[in-house]
Amino acid sequence: MGHTRKKITVIGAGFVGSTAAHWAASKELGDVVLLDINEGTAKGKALDLFEASPVNLGFDSNIIGTSDYKKSAHSDVVIITAGIPRKPGMSRDDLLATNAKIMKSCCEGVKEHSPDAVVIIVSNPLDAMCTVAKETLGFAPEKVIGMAGILDSARFRSFIAEAANVSVKDVHAFVLGGHGDTMVPMPRHCSIGGAPLTHFLSEEKINEIVVRTRKGGAEIVGLLKTGSAYYAPSASAVEMAEAILKDQKRILPCAAFLQGEYGVKGLYLGVLCKLGGNGMEGVIEVDLNAEESAGLENSVAAVKDLVGALEKLNY
Ligand code: NAI
Ligand code: 2OP
Repeated sequence: MGHTRKKITVIGAGFVGSTAAHWAASKELGDVVLLDINEGTAKGKALDLFEASPVNLGFDSNIIGTSDYKKSAHSDVVIITAGIPRKPGMSRDDLLATNAKIMKSCCEGVKEHSPDAVVIIVSNPLDAMCTVAKETLGFAPEKVIGMAGILDSARFRSFIAEAANVSVKDVHAFVLGGHGDTMVPMPRHCSIGGAPLTHFLSEEKINEIVVRTRKGGAEIVGLLKTGSAYYAPSASAVEMAEAILKDQKRILPCAAFLQGEYGVKGLYLGVLCKLGGNGMEGVIEVDLNAEESAGLENSVAAVKDLVGALEKLNY
């Protein structure tokens, strides 16, 4: 019998990467390779996770740890989380220089050993790291997708569900734009079981939730003090991996390389995407009112600044 299971490589075996490996293995999405520059960390966490596989309901996924890209060869999906996380007082943009170098080295390994993979970028600053990844990999834009929108939307949805006292399962909502303070939560497009959000919450409460969502990453950093969020980020990356591996054609907010959508060309930006077996299979453009358009333009400007700063670096 040949190898018929899907193969997922997670690069970076830190908080986000190891938790992503956990979600992916426990959902039996395929065999998992956990790769880190620190071989002991990758091997230790992978072995520990593998040893969890017989317990409770158990899962049939092999998990290996390594620092050798050869072991990641022919992955179907690669999730890149390598990089340093944000410390209190640090903006995502402060991470730019260090993480650009790390992203480039990871993508060189992926390009050589998994040229057909769909690559999901997680490392921050997200929109800039997607640019580094796309340039280094040289893959088609639909094969290089950033994770941020699902996380930002998950924060938005969980705050809405809590305030409205309804199941999170019935809250549909999304956030557009860059993964930073300028992101654009879209309450007008939110529905709870098909009914508009304003049926459940006051304008004042909605605005409060919008502000909290924008600062969602910083809220966790402020509490943890030694790093940033990882449960919701890793779950979000694995939701993208699942949509791709199972060709689900899900409609999810992701950072996609825009080619004219919303009047933006040649820039990664958080938009609603269709995710399936070919990666990013299409951008869904939603109608925007004047306020939402202005918000998105502001976010585009912030991402352009970030990419501009990136271009000045010799990474
Ligand atoms: P972490 O510090 O726990 O893990 C990072 C791992 O990357 C470490 O194990 C480190 O050894 C590894 N690493 C460093 N250089 C490497 C290289 N050249 N090759 C392979 N591995 C390398 O950090 P954490 O919390 O897992 O966060 C990872 C990244 O994800 C950060 O940049 C963080 O800002 C970002 N992030 C992005 C989110 C998003 O929404 N896009 C959400 C949460 C985190
Ligand atoms: C977050 O939003 C750190 O970008 C990460 O939690």
